[in-house]
Parts: sequence; structure tokens; C-alpha cells
Amino acid sequence: MAQQIRAPRGTRDLLPEEGAAWNRVESIARSLAERFGCARIDTPLFERVELFARGLGETSDAVEKEMFRVGGASGSEEERAEWALRPEPTAGIVRAYIENGMHVRPGPLRLWLLGPMFRYARPQAGRYRQFTQWDVEVIGDPGPMVDAELIDLAHRFYAEVGLRDVVAHLNSIGDGVCRPRFREALVTYFAAHEARLTADSRRRLRANPLRVLDDTLLEPELAAGAPRSVDYLCDACRAHFDGVRNLLDALGLRYVLDHRLVRGLDYYSRTTVEFYVAGREGQQQALGGGGRYDGLVELLGGRSTPAIGFGLGIDRTVLAALEQGAPVHASMPLVAVVGDLDDLAGRLRVAGTLRDAGLAVRPDGSPRRLGRQLESAAKAGARWAVIIGEGGSEGPVVLRDLESGEQHEVAVDAVAAAVTEAGLP
Ligand code: HAM
Repeated sequence: MAQQIRAPRGTRDLLPEEGAAWNRVESIARSLAERFGCARIDTPLFERVELFARGLGETSDAVEKEMFRVGGASGSEEERAEWALRPEPTAGIVRAYIENGMHVRPGPLRLWLLGPMFRYARPQAGRYRQFTQWDVEVIGDPGPMVDAELIDLAHRFYAEVGLRDVVAHLNSIGDGVCRPRFREALVTYFAAHEARLTADSRRRLRANPLRVLDDTLLEPELAAGAPRSVDYLCDACRAHFDGVRNLLDALGLRYVLDHRLVRGLDYYSRTTVEFYVAGREGQQQALGGGGRYDGLVELLGGRSTPAIGFGLGIDRTVLAALEQGAPVHASMPLVAVVGDLDDLAGRLRVAGTLRDAGLAVRPDGSPRRLGRQLESAAKAGARWAVIIGEGGSEGPVVLRDLESGEQHEVAVDAVAAAVTEAGLP
């Protein structure tokens, strides 16, 4: 036998058993995006490395350690160094916004994207090299109402998925006016404890001290004593943050203040947020995260434009939903079309009629005995069987409940109504 080829480390095959759960979660995301007035956008899966380096920051893990470089087989070393699979969608969406002159459209723009992201990190539970995000971005809205609205959107998503105890962690990391003072305070504080920092943090300390706070290996006592960004906010950032919190309180949305929440990407300003199942707040367990990035459009060559967004991890959401026993199955029951006459065209015709009526249908194309066809339909998960009898595809046919074994004759046109009616509680 030839040697087997295995999937790359850190990737997973989505197997049919999981497909229904993914479909359900993705359709909740799509439907919510629509209900929040967001329009779909898609961008390439690979972009210039420069886009990520400038947007996410040279010292972010995503750029410094986890870039998935790609290039043509015949390309030179330099050419291959130019492109990378996207580690996240925000930089690409902002590039598309600028490149397509989208600032002239009536704003604020509300956009969503659902698709795979790639980070070349060490794989572990809930952390993959290819994973899927549902991303929502609002470009051109200074807030604070939209900040609260997006946190509401994420909470609704988790609630509709059926996840319990999801809590938002919230912080404000200030802006270009007040952050320099906060950074300075961080450098002074951590420099005094330099020996206790990891090698990564020591290296990043002066270039980007916020990354030190984000270091998963930072000693908890050292983290607890570190300067807090909220103590350094300028008046405008303070007013913005108070505005967001007042709205969240007014809506009764759950959040906790998290002074360490600076996020792992450099484009953030003011509001930062992450979502967790309460009690499972380890670094690898964030179900989603995001925040305001008022400086990114300008940094990537556009005009100064406020913006905010989040990315919710679909892999982790599905995992958590399965763990909590949330409903995962699509609601549509499967109908098998079987028959013991050698009339394959008839089976396809009946299947077509039922599909026209909106049913999920799986015709059996085999010459097996009727009993065997019914058995295999039940094993394949069909809830109903339509048995074509003497009347052929014009009917009448027999509708059999594969759970109870009860059956009765109906006209082909009446099958959909009978199935729908029986499915009602
Ligand atoms: P992020 O926090 O890097 O933010 O990723 C968002 C979510 O994607 C995480 O909370 C997690 O659920 C999921 N995720 C990230 N890395 C992995 C991985 N290796 N395996 C599985 N799931 C993962 C962003 O990407 C920002 N673009 C969010 C944003 C949008 N900020 C503003 N707009």
C-alpha cells in the first residue's frame, strides 16, 4: 500500500458529523450581520507581508513569529518573502476600503467577513494554524454608541448559538495623545523588574512595552502591579470609555474591566474587548476579540478615519457549544426516496418535487430490496422515507416515519405538508 499523506500539523478536516454544527453557527453569524445592517466583504486570503507588518505591528506575534509566507514555486527567495496568508482580516479590509475609495460612500460602513485565517503558531487545544473567524467592522463611526452596539452583537451571537456564561472583558488603552505616557510608565516599571521578564518581553520592552503585558508567561504578581492604562486616559478617551460603559450598563450587558487587556495587535486605540466563557479565561481560550482602531486607516495610507470591529473564532465557538451541550443540529429533517421498482428516473422525479417544496432529500439509487433501502436510509440519518409504489412517480406514494415505523399513503404533492406538520411540536 502506498504511504498515507496526512493533513498539515495544526489543521483539521471538518468532518460531516461537525458540519451541521458549523452550518448552524455560520448561519447565525450571517443572519445577525444582516440584522445589524452589515454588508459582506471578501478580501484575498494572501496579501503583502508589508500590509500586516505595518498594520498589526512588527513586534506582534502574528507578524514576528506566525507569518505564513507564500509564493510561486518559480519565485525567487525575495518574491516569496513578499506575500503571506492573512493572519487576520482587519488589515485586508482596511486596505480594500482605501484602495476602492470606499470613503466616498455614505458611511459609516458596516462590513462583515467569514473565512479562514492562518497563523504559524505552535498548535494546541483550540489553537490552530488554519482557523475561521467571523469578522465585523464599522468604518467611519467615532462611537461610543457603536462600541456598545458591537458588544451587544457579539453577546447576541453567543446567546443564539446557545453558549451560556459568556462575559466580555473590557479595557481602554487610550490614543495617540495619552498612550505615550502610559508606555513610558510601563517601560519604567518593567525595566525595574527586567530580570523577571521572558526573553521575548525583554527584547520588546523598549520598542513596544504593551506586548509585555500581553506575554502569556508574565508573572501574575508582576502583571498585577503594572501601571493601568485607564489611569492614564486623556479627557477625551476617558469620556469615550465612560460613554461605552454607561451604554453597556443601560443595556444590562455583562462585562468585567480587565486592565491587562491590551490585545496582541498594534492597531488598537481606546476600547479593547475580548469574550470568554466565564471561568475559562486562559490566553488560548478567547472566543473572540476586537476593539477600536482609529489610527489604522491613516497608517495604511487613507485619511484619518475612526473604526472599530471584532473577530469571533468559529472553531472555539463550536468547541465550546459542543462542550456545553448547546443545540448543534440543523433543524431540517432528511427524507429518503426509495422504491422496489426499477424506476430510477421516478425516484429522481419524486426527489425533485420534494426539493421544490423545500425538503432535504436523499434518493436511493441502488437496486437493493426495499427493506435494505429503508434500513440504510435510517442509518444515514433520514427521518422519513417516501416509498414509490405501483403508482410510480405520479403517486400516490407511501410516507413512512422511520422512527415509529408508522406509514400511510399520500399524494406526492402532499408529502411536504405532511412532513412539516408532523415536525411541529
Ligand atoms: P484576534 O484576537 O487575534 O483578533 O483573533 C480573534 C479571535 O480569533 C480570537 O479571539 C480567537 O477566537 C480566534 N483565533 C485567533 N487565533 C486563533 C487560532 N490560532 N486558532 C483558533 N482560533 C483563533 C483579530 O484577529 C482582530 N482582527 C479582531 C478585530 C477585528 N479587531 C478589530 N476588528
